[in-house]
Amino acid sequence: MTAVFQFQDWLITHSARTELALDALLDSDQITPNRLHEAMRYAAQGGGKRIRPLLVFAAGTLGNSDSVTSDALDAAAVAIECIHAYSLVHDDLPCMDDDDLRRGRPTVHRAYDEATALLVGDALQTRAFEILANANCAADTRLLMISALAAASGSRGMAGGQAIDLEHVGKKLDLPGLKQMHAMKTGALLACAVELGGIVACLDAAQMLCLKHYSQALGLAFQIIDDVLDATADSQTLGKTAGKDVANDKPTYVTLMGLDYAQKQAMQLQAEAIGSLDIFGSKGQALKDLALLVVNRGK
Ligand code: IPE
Ligand code: IPE
Ligand code: MG
Ligand code: MG
Ligand code: MG
Repeated sequence: MTAVFQFQDWLITHSARTELALDALLDSDQITPNRLHEAMRYAAQGGGKRIRPLLVFAAGTLGNSDSVTSDALDAAAVAIECIHAYSLVHDDLPCMDDDDLRRGRPTVHRAYDEATALLVGDALQTRAFEILANANCAADTRLLMISALAAASGSRGMAGGQAIDLEHVGKKLDLPGLKQMHAMKTGALLACAVELGGIVACLDAAQMLCLKHYSQALGLAFQIIDDVLDATADSQTLGKTAGKDVANDKPTYVTLMGLDYAQKQAMQLQAEAIGSLDIFGSKGQALKDLALLVVNRGK
């Protein structure tokens, strides 16, 4: 008899796995320069929902499990979280969103200094690619992962989305423009997490296409909920400064379309994401439950 999938157990196991893998793959703060390594650990450890590593693990088990090396999934999970942590460190800098609080603690430039925060971002980014280059899997798998992560992180992905965000401080964006910004600054890395799992699991083109549809819907829903929570939750719950989007005069789903529309849109995208996973049958349950988790945060 097949055991019933228990998402809460899966979540606990894979969250713990993420923390262990991060600890193992980040440089020790005993290595010179100690302060930089300590600040990199400060940025990447001790908080965060770990949604991107969880997406890697969930997508990474959709194929024939014999083809999946557990080490390669750990490498992919840590690599994407390093890029994400770097994006947060830079996002919080005074020249970007100027935030003092992240994951319930002072931001890196507050706990250390601005130059260290810049270098933490730089070094986390290069560490991510080093980890993928050394992952325990076939060379062509490593190359595919490096290519996917580079594309998702760069000017056509996260960094490009951040540029659009900063260009529109105090300015209006229409709905297609807002969707594009969200898809790039947030959706690209979330989609890449799913893609990395799919690459390690050696999924075929049709399966990868279904995952792409799932990720596109999930990525947009994720940033809509981030915008909703910025407007509705308090700083203690969020672990970052609430009300920051209005304070910084950013175009968001909430300012453009209103809270009600934003929440309904996120629910619709959640349903779209879940509907894209039909071909995976019960194997897709972790990804479905992750979509529920992401959107239900905004309720
Ligand atoms: C916050 O991401 C930044 C966005 C891309 C919206 P998360 O909400 O995943 O942040 P952590 O990792 O849980 O702190
Ligand atoms: C951040 O968007 C996206 C990236 C870090 C790439 P936000 O600026 O809305 O993220 P938070 O709200 O500060 O986490
Ligand atoms: Mg920002
Ligand atoms: Mg921000
Ligand atoms: Mg935000």
